[in-house]
Order: sequence, then C-alpha cells, then structure tokens
Amino acid sequence: MAVAWIRVLFMVVCLFPVLVQCRIRHYKFNVVMNNTTKLCSSKPIVTVNGLFPGPTVSAREGDRVLIKVVNHVKYNLSIHWHGIRQIRTGWADGPAYITQCPIQPGQSYVYNFTVTGQRGTLWWHAHILWLRATVHGAIVILPKPGVPYPFPAPDKEVVVLLGEWWKSDVEAVIKEATKSGLAPNVSDAHTINGHPGPVSTCLTQRGFNLPVDTGKTYMLRVINAALNEELFFKIANHKLTVVEVDAAYVKPFKTDTILIAPGQTTNVLVKANQESGKYLVAVSPFMDAPISVDNVTATATLHYSTAVPSSVTTTLTAPPPQNATALATKFSDSLRSLNSKKYPAQVPSEVDHSLLFTIGLGVNPCATCVNGSRVVADINNVTFVMPKINLLQAHYFKISGVFTDDFPGKPIMPYNYTGTQPKNFATVKATKLYRLAYNSTVELVLQGTGMVVPENHPIHLHGFNFFVVGRGVGNFKKKDRKKFNLVDPVERNTVGVPSGGWTAIRFRADNPGVWFMHCHLEVHTTWGLKMAFVVDNGEGPNESILPPPPDFPKC
Ligand code: C2O
Repeated sequence: MAVAWIRVLFMVVCLFPVLVQCRIRHYKFNVVMNNTTKLCSSKPIVTVNGLFPGPTVSAREGDRVLIKVVNHVKYNLSIHWHGIRQIRTGWADGPAYITQCPIQPGQSYVYNFTVTGQRGTLWWHAHILWLRATVHGAIVILPKPGVPYPFPAPDKEVVVLLGEWWKSDVEAVIKEATKSGLAPNVSDAHTINGHPGPVSTCLTQRGFNLPVDTGKTYMLRVINAALNEELFFKIANHKLTVVEVDAAYVKPFKTDTILIAPGQTTNVLVKANQESGKYLVAVSPFMDAPISVDNVTATATLHYSTAVPSSVTTTLTAPPPQNATALATKFSDSLRSLNSKKYPAQVPSEVDHSLLFTIGLGVNPCATCVNGSRVVADINNVTFVMPKINLLQAHYFKISGVFTDDFPGKPIMPYNYTGTQPKNFATVKATKLYRLAYNSTVELVLQGTGMVVPENHPIHLHGFNFFVVGRGVGNFKKKDRKKFNLVDPVERNTVGVPSGGWTAIRFRADNPGVWFMHCHLEVHTTWGLKMAFVVDNGEGPNESILPPPPDFPKC
C-alpha cells in the first residue's frame, strides 16, 4: 500500500518537471522484420521499429525510463540496457534466463528503470540467441539539467554505432555452428551506423557520411555493437580526444586510433581543423591470436561543408595491422578515471572477496559433432548451462533446483595457465553462481588461458561498474598486486583481458540481485564463457530488490 502511494506521489511530482527536475521517458519498441536498404541484401532482418540500427533512447541522469517492447517476430526476445546499473530493478536488466524469461511472440513487456548516478553513452541490445546483430541502438544519457560536461561542450554530438553484417541469416549461422561443434562463420562486413561502406559484393553502397563545419568540435559517441570483433577506429588526419568510456568520464587524452571491444562505448571529441575536403573514417578488426576474423575494413567519411563537391579530394587512412597488440595495450593503458572532486573514483581499498577466474576455451566430447568434439568455453573450468527459468526469479522466490551457489572462487586445479597446454581440455557443465553479501567488496583477477588458443576476451559485468586496477601478460602473481592503481583506474562495465594475460578489477556489491558476467564476444557466450553473481539484499527496503512488475514475462 505504502509503495503504491509513493508511486502515485512520484508521478504527481513528475508532472512539474521544472520544479523537481525529474522526468519519465516513454518509448515503444515494436520488434518487427524489415528490409533495410542500407545493407546489400533483400533478406529481411529483425529490427526495432523497422530501423537499423535501432532508435536512440535519450534520457537525463535521474530520469525514469519506460520502454514497452512488443514482440511481433517468431523468435523469443529480451532486451538488455547495457551498462545501466538497474539499482534494485534487476527485473528490467534483460538477459534471457538470467533476470527474465523471454518475451514470447505476440507478447510484450515494459522495461521500467531509473537512471541513477550515470551520464554518458551506453547502448541497448537483444540478449537472447544472436539477435543483437541487428537489434541494437544507442542510449544517450545527458547530465542533469544545468550540469555541464567536465570538458568544453562540443558544437554537435553524433552517435556512431559499429556493427557486423552477415549475408546469410545470423540465426542460421549460429545454429549450424552449434550443430557441428565448430566455430561459426565470420561476418561478411563491418558496419558504421548500419552502412557496410563499399564492399566487393555491393559496390553501389555508399557509406555513412558526417558533414562537418570548419572550426567546430564534434563529440562522437562510438559504440561497438559487433558480435565477435574488437575494432580499431580512426579518422584520416584528425586527432581524437577521449573523454568518456562506458558512461564514466576519463582524463582526456589525444590519440589517432581508439580500440573498442564489443559492449564498450567511447566518447571522443574531434575538431574539424584540417583543410577543407573529405576524410576517410576506417573501422577494422583487432585480433592478436591465430583466429580468423572478418578483415573487411568499413569506411565512412567526414565531409567539410565548404568542400566543393566537384573538386573534393578524399584523404585516405591506413587501418592498423590486425595484430597491433602494442597499439591496443597503449590505448588501454592511457585510460584513467577523471577522478575529480565532482567525479571521484571510489575504488574499494579493502577487499572482502579475492577471486581468480580463469577464462578461455575448452573441448568437450560430442558424438553428433563433425569432429566428435565440441568447442566450449568456460570460467574456472565451468561451462555455464542456461537454466529453464530465470535465475533472478529463482533467487527472489527461493525456487530450489534452478542453480547452486558454489561457483569456485579460484581454479580447482591450478596449472600454468599461459604455459604449455594441459592434456585435458574438458570442462564441467553446470549452473553455478557466486554469492556476495550486500555491500561486500570484490577483487576479481580475470586470467586468460592458453587452452586451445589464447585470445583477448572482453568481459562484461551486469549491474555494476568496476575499476580496472591492473593488467599484465602471463600468469597473475601475488606481487602484481603491489602495482595496482587504486587512485585513478578507469571505471567501466566491459574490459578486455589481453591474450595470454590477465586483468584485475574491483567493485562493490551494492546492488542486490542476480548479475550476469560474460565474454561479450557472442560466440564465446554461446559456448559457455559466462557465470552470474547473486547479491543478497542488505538491510531495509532501500537495499532490497523491488518486487517483479505485474507484466513480468512467464516462461
Ligand atoms: Cu551487452 Cu550481457 O551484455
């Protein structure tokens, strides 16, 4: 009863937004099949409101957002608001079978959350099957009214969504791979705001063009929505000033190239300070392991408005080599929290849970597969098995038999993770969670392994931002802790663990619920490189999960 009254009060108060500066934003997402002329194909794709990329969700810090998702396609659906902390509202987080059962064909669900303590660029995407290939879009969170950016305000802001495109149906691609036990086909092109740019099979395709005026500054909100590839992004002759990643401000720094992994967002300032003309934007893959990638560079253009079309010359740029590890490392090492008075880096200094998770691939026997075996992926040798009903519901209503909370905090059988390969590649299949008390602090060392092949894994944690306190090559050692940056480490929600190396993160478990953690390379998630934390309620209603909404989808 009291809760209902508070809700009514909140709604009434929000009728006077100027007075209280809070707002409710309403969106309707109709998920429909649609043809898009941007892609060189007449095959219909799954879209939101017929758009590719999908619509931008705009809000201000403090706003409440209500998004009604209506499923008009033949697939089960769910949508994740990637990076939104969802404080106490895990029901709106979106990963299928983790925090909700899918929205079935013909059904709908209203995602209802408040943007608390965050501003910057995030994004939303389907969180079931491989639908996120085409079901994704930007989330732009502006600071509260009257609060400036901690850097000179740009003249214009532009969303730049990077993606991957397959000629064939994406669901067919992964279905085939799951059947054979082999790796799925790589994509046929990368996209910039839905345009592949000129690719060999599609020469008439024009790429995305950004018109600019001399002397003006542009803020590009770059988002990597690709399924399986980390990307380099650069613009011919123009420096990029990085000001924010994953909706957290950073100490600004200049670079020619940014590295962005699937799941990550990066805001950069670009000044149109070159001679009038056309400048190429290049997006190309980063892969420093012997694994095949889609090596088609996507291109777009920056076009100075004063350039006369007939005489315009295009300044080209060479993409970095695919295996440019040094460049990738330099970029990652340059990222630091802004750590100002207004935006302090609140790094946990004491640690309640010190965890070591090995992440990598494995091989399990499979009688029906092509080679008699199946490529899998794991964390601490556990290949995560998706439950039949969502974990949050099982946790909230204490339904037994859905998961166990004995996820190992350390490898059960330690070995030389980045050394010679062990004989046994097999993993354990289970639905195990790691339990955390409310407000406990966690240090998690993500240790890449050389099982099958070492490669870079962008690890994403739902429900939290974390601080990246250290990274290195080889096996993590105790003494590496001495070099941790506890002063101004970058704060984010997705971080790359280097090939054959480790990354250490710290966070405070101040959000009750069930929170998914997984590799944001979709193929690795499919293979089982995922687990979840269950964070218990704290004391009183403010530290407890809210009840599920009335239209919460049924399994
Ligand atoms: Cu952007 Cu669990 O994902």
